[in-house]
Amino acid sequence: MTPRPLILDVDTGVDDALALLYAAASPEVELIGATTVMGNVTVRHATENTLAVLELAGLGHVEVASGAARPLVRDHEPFPVVHGERGLGRAELPSSTRAPSSRSAAQLLVEAARERRGEVLLVATGPLTNVALALAEEPGLPELLGGFAIMGGAFARGGNATPAAEANIWVDPDAAQAVFRGFAGREAARLPLCAGLDVTDRVQLSRAALDAICADMPGSPVARFLQEAVPFYIEFYERFGVAGGAAMHDPLALALALDESLGTFETTRVEVETDGQWTRGMTVADLRGVRHSPWPVGWEPEENARVALDVDVAGFLTRFADRLRSLAEAPA
Ligand code: RIB
Ligand code: CA
Repeated sequence: MTPRPLILDVDTGVDDALALLYAAASPEVELIGATTVMGNVTVRHATENTLAVLELAGLGHVEVASGAARPLVRDHEPFPVVHGERGLGRAELPSSTRAPSSRSAAQLLVEAARERRGEVLLVATGPLTNVALALAEEPGLPELLGGFAIMGGAFARGGNATPAAEANIWVDPDAAQAVFRGFAGREAARLPLCAGLDVTDRVQLSRAALDAICADMPGSPVARFLQEAVPFYIEFYERFGVAGGAAMHDPLALALALDESLGTFETTRVEVETDGQWTRGMTVADLRGVRHSPWPVGWEPEENARVALDVDVAGFLTRFADRLRSLAEAPA
């Protein structure tokens, strides 16, 4: 089967790096580009990290285009406590010998979608600033893409950046609102597939699982990277009383985009709070269809998202481990 062209939009931190590795190990797709955005780290560190991780994975030829250095409206400071100062825990990968693309992230997204109309799968695992900028440049992006998935939101539960908001949406709620509105009314298959905390917090990589994966990759540079990057991320969760390991937010978003049978989805409408003092970045999903009530609720009826509400935890974690192991011999 011909692999689908894939673009990952990342704010490469630890779990974004694991999504890049998952992409490298997935025969269903060919990573044709990566676009970077601020979020976990500055866009400069996200770009440097992405270039370095792709070289580690044997994808040093893949175009990396740098994107938004700040959100559309407000400013933002990175989260070094979660992913480390440079964003890859305690890992210090060799700096890439390659420069980022001369194109911006938004240009790469739009031009790739136009060149391969209806083919490119876009998976965004950071704030949605680049995607919003691409939509502003090309409002027809939903028709030009072959599929779109995000790691973002908290649709039937609380947030992680604030009690109401998941981090990617919280960093740039204006961009997220623009993206959800930009996709509204399309056929279900074209709507953003949303892997929110409802499912991503349930797929935790434990220390034992990490050690088992690496034990099967003796002497592998990828295993060394995993052992240097992931424990820092696990320690963050442990400090917050979360036993059982670190959430594999971004790899799950990609895994669901590649195989929807791993999840259960609800097609609905999502609005993003952009102004609330306590609720900024909250993804409000009309899972009960109240917007169709016979009284005015001020909500547009069109659906704009497919929200994941359940996940095959064991099935994902097994596939994730198997695919990481397959990188044991990633070509240098
Ligand atoms: O809320 C989790 C998300 O925020 C993940 O994408 C993680 O990498 C951070 O960007
Ligand atoms: Ca991310």
